[in-house]
Amino acid sequence: MATYSIRQIGDPVLRERADDVTDIDGKLAQDAHTMIETMYAAPGGGLAATQVGITKRYFVFDTDDGPKVAINPEIVDTQGECEWTEGCLSIPEFYEDVTRPAKVRVAYLDRGGKAQEIEADGLLATCLQHEIDHLDGVLLFDRMERDERKRALKQWREQGS
Ligand code: NI
Repeated sequence: MATYSIRQIGDPVLRERADDVTDIDGKLAQDAHTMIETMYAAPGGGLAATQVGITKRYFVFDTDDGPKVAINPEIVDTQGECEWTEGCLSIPEFYEDVTRPAKVRVAYLDRGGKAQEIEADGLLATCLQHEIDHLDGVLLFDRMERDERKRALKQWREQGS
């Protein structure tokens, strides 16, 4: 089983904005397959291409519904607000509450190039927003209030040393 190594916090690729996918070709299919294996091995519920050093706009995810690939994803609608404890495969041992829209509608292309739209709430809504953030170079602590972020990062650094 081939897997990628997951880029960790401090790697500049995690701060890059990924480029739109223009060709859904065999290379992307193969890379996405390896990303799915990498996500399961981690284990995690979502993995963005940038997290394995591929600066293309797609991610893989599975919140108990089988593996899916979302290409050129876009949030087209949001509703409400909720707080969820998030972690990230690129920031080991960091788990913090993040407030985001509670419901989202996301449009994307599937691995066959077909336009899809999903409405999500709960864990899936959080997962989709977190992975789309990765494609914009945004990490979960960027979504925290300034004071909360300072406290959380200080605590995280101390526990890691
Ligand atoms: Ni992440």
